[in-house]
Amino acid sequence: MASNSRGHFSSRFGFILAAAGSAVGLGNVWGFPTQTASNGGGAFLVVYLAMVFLIAFPMLVAELTIGRYGQSNPIASLKSVWTNSRFGAPVLGVIAMIAASMILSFYSILAGWLMGFAIAPLLELFGLSAAAEWLINFSNGRNLLLTLAFSLLTIFVVRKGVANGIEKWSTRLMPVLFVLFAIMIVYIFTQPGAMDGLKMYLVPDFSHLSPSLVVNAMGQAFFSLSLGVGTMMVYGSYLKKDVNIPKTAAQVASIDTAVAFAAGLMILPAMFVAKHNGVEIFNDAGELISSGDLVFTVLPAMFDTMGSAGILLAVGFFILMVIAALTSSISMLEVPVACAQDELKMERGTATFVIGGIILILSVIIALNFGSLFDLVAEISTVYMQPLIGLAFAIIVGWVWNRNKLLQELQQGCPELATSLFWKIWPWYVRIVCPIAIAAIFLVTVI
Ligand code: TRP
Repeated sequence: MASNSRGHFSSRFGFILAAAGSAVGLGNVWGFPTQTASNGGGAFLVVYLAMVFLIAFPMLVAELTIGRYGQSNPIASLKSVWTNSRFGAPVLGVIAMIAASMILSFYSILAGWLMGFAIAPLLELFGLSAAAEWLINFSNGRNLLLTLAFSLLTIFVVRKGVANGIEKWSTRLMPVLFVLFAIMIVYIFTQPGAMDGLKMYLVPDFSHLSPSLVVNAMGQAFFSLSLGVGTMMVYGSYLKKDVNIPKTAAQVASIDTAVAFAAGLMILPAMFVAKHNGVEIFNDAGELISSGDLVFTVLPAMFDTMGSAGILLAVGFFILMVIAALTSSISMLEVPVACAQDELKMERGTATFVIGGIILILSVIIALNFGSLFDLVAEISTVYMQPLIGLAFAIIVGWVWNRNKLLQELQQGCPELATSLFWKIWPWYVRIVCPIAIAAIFLVTVI
C-alpha cells in the first residue's frame, strides 16, 4: 500500500528520537514542573506516572498503529480503518488537523519568548542592555518578531521532509538536550536550598489529591505524549513494517517521562534555590505565585543571583527549551502538511510554506489579542479537542477496526504478539478502559 514517494524514517533509532523529540517539549520542561509545583509536588508526580502508564501509553500504541497501517496522512489513515462511514474519518481527520494547527499557533509564541530569553543574557554580556530588556519584556513587537523567527525555524525543518528534516534534526538536537539537562541538574543540586525542592518533589503528600489533580495529570500526560491530534499517527505512518510498535511506543513513552521527571529534578530544586537567594516564590497562603511564569520569572531571577555562571546557565537552559520546542513544533506542522501533500496533491515545499504561513497568521492574531485569545486557544485545543479526539481514536481502534486486521498489523515486527501478555490486555483495554477513563475525566473537567 505504501507508495514509493512517501518518506520513511531511515532507522528505528531515528524514529525513536523523532517521536521522543515530538513528545519532549515545553510540556515536559515547563508544563510538567509547573503543574507539579502548583499541585503539591510528589502527589502529582505519582498520579502523573499512573496516567502515562494506564492511559497515555495504550493510546500512543493505538495512534501509531493506525498510522502505520494506513501508511498515509491522518485523514487517509483514519479512512483505512474506519471504512463503514463515508464522512466520519475525513471529518475527524480534519478536526485533528485543526487541533494540531491551533496548538502550534500558541506554542510558537511561547517558544519565541524562550528564544528571546536565550539571546538576552548574551546581549547583556556585550553591554546591549536595552536590546536585552526588549527581548524579555512583553510587547507586541517582541512577540511578533520572535514568533516569526521560531515559525521560520519550524518551516525550515519540515520543508526538508521526514528523513532529511525531521529525523536529521531530531537526532542532532535530542542528544544535545540530554547533555544540557544533565549538566544543569548536577549544577543546581550543588546550590544551597536545592534539597528542600527535592523533598517537595519526591516525598508525596497525598493530602493534595483531588479530582482536579487527576484531571490535570491526565491532560498533562496527553499533551506530553503528543496524543489526540494525529501527530503520532502521522509519525507512525513513516514507520517501516518490521518495527515492533508496542516496544517502540514503550521506549518513546519512557524517554518522555524520564525527561519530564528530570525537568522536575531541575526546576523544583531551582525554585527553592531562588527562594534561598531571596526571590519570592510562595505567597503567605503557601501557594506558588504566578505559576505560569515560573520559567520566565523565577528562573531568570535565580540566574541573576549567580553571577557569571548564571549567565552561562541561563543561556544553556533557554537553548535547551528552544530545542525541545522545535522538535515538537515540527511534529505539529507535519500533521497538516502531510494532509495537504496527499489529499490536495501539493508539493511538500509549497505545502509547508502555505500551511506554515497560515498558522503563522493565526499566531499573529493571537499575539495581537494576547489577553483574550491566548488562554482561550490553548484551552479549546488542549482541554477540549485533545481528549475528545483521543476518545474517538480509542473507540475506532477498540470498536470499529476489524480485530484481525489490527492483530495482523501489530504482528508485523512482533511475530510473537498473539501469545503475548500485551495482546491479552491491550485490545480490551483500548476498547473499554481508555474510553471510559477519558470520558469520565473529561466530564469532571467540564463540570
Ligand atoms: N508533546 C509536546 C510537549 O510536551 C508538544 C506537542 C507536540 C503536542 N505535538 C503535539 C501536544 C501534539 C499536543 C498534541 O511539549
